[in-house]
Amino acid sequence: MGVVAGLQRQAVECEELGSPMYAELLRRIVDDYELGGASTGVLGSYEGHQFEESIALPLLGAVHRLVLSGEAPELASFYPSVGGVWDPVLGWEAFEQVLQSRAAELRAGLLQPPQTNEVRRSVALYGGLLQLADEFGLPVRLFEIGSSAGLNLRADHFRFNLADGTSYGPADSPVVIESAWSGREVPRSPLRIAERVGSDVAPVNALSEEGARTLTSYVWADQAERLARLRGALAIAREVPADIRREDAVSFVRGLELSEGHLTVLWHSIMWHYLSPEDQAAVDAALAELGAKAGESTPLARLRLESAGEWDEEFLVDLETWPGGVRRVLGHADPHGQGMVWDPLS
Ligand SMILES: C[S@@+](CC[C@H](N)C(=O)[O-])C[C@H]1O[C@@H](n2cnc3c(N)ncnc32)[C@H](O)[C@@H]1O
Repeated sequence: MGVVAGLQRQAVECEELGSPMYAELLRRIVDDYELGGASTGVLGSYEGHQFEESIALPLLGAVHRLVLSGEAPELASFYPSVGGVWDPVLGWEAFEQVLQSRAAELRAGLLQPPQTNEVRRSVALYGGLLQLADEFGLPVRLFEIGSSAGLNLRADHFRFNLADGTSYGPADSPVVIESAWSGREVPRSPLRIAERVGSDVAPVNALSEEGARTLTSYVWADQAERLARLRGALAIAREVPADIRREDAVSFVRGLELSEGHLTVLWHSIMWHYLSPEDQAAVDAALAELGAKAGESTPLARLRLESAGEWDEEFLVDLETWPGGVRRVLGHADPHGQGMVWDPLS
């Protein structure tokens, strides 16, 4: 397949997922690459590499990072994420200049895996937590595996607007999620989160300038709403503490304990496919073991937004609770948290 095929595939995805600027940039990079232009100096050595087909997003992220840190002012005036206006001709010329002048640095940065934390996935978490608050009426200790920067551990501080004009969450939140969900009415139960703990093998520190820039760099520069959500969530993270640990999912779940008078919740979104089958089984087993100890005043829940099977279009919001180990599907969404529909409760 090769580098060009990867760039072309990503261009189609950007087009379909609402980033005309990146779709256009990628097509220009393809033309430039095929003519042996500036992009070959950055991408050429990845031809035949195992990541040759997934090099597009790391490249766009690395350039965006330069723009965000003020190191590419000539390009910044074309990047909407920093107040610029995209121009296909002049914007490409400035981009090409950056490819030329920063080739070695960009080339070196391409193997850093993109690190995202998708704020919109909080729709599944928040709706699920309200359901749990309705059923258990206890303060929640919220734990997350694959939490990235842990932004969604603060979901109770986000505003969720529904298409019918109603809303959930604080009116003055800097995070506003439009058309948050549809389907069954979500209970408006009082939700109190007593503790927020995340774990990730490669956590991002949302409180540092560097971490915030990393997360922002992987959002497509012309996706204004997504950028606004991320920036709002970063602001909330500075106000609402969460304990984010560098720890893999298996050891984190093995270390979980129940607590008297609290509902202990384990949440995860779009991380399950990163785990080996052995690690998936180990997480399941550790939770089942903990669940076996759960009681009326020490309940446990597992809430997730993950693929229903193979990586496909359908992602389920699924809830399992103990005592009892009852599992049910609450709804479905796309992997970015869009199109969230709550199914009727069975
Ligand atoms: C696609 S990101 C999703 C991040 C976050 N859950 C969200 O929905 O925005 C997947 C995350 O899983 C983390 N991850 C991968 N393998 C892991 C493991 N074995 N244990 C814990 N986290 C892991 C990655 O570092 C990454 O932050």
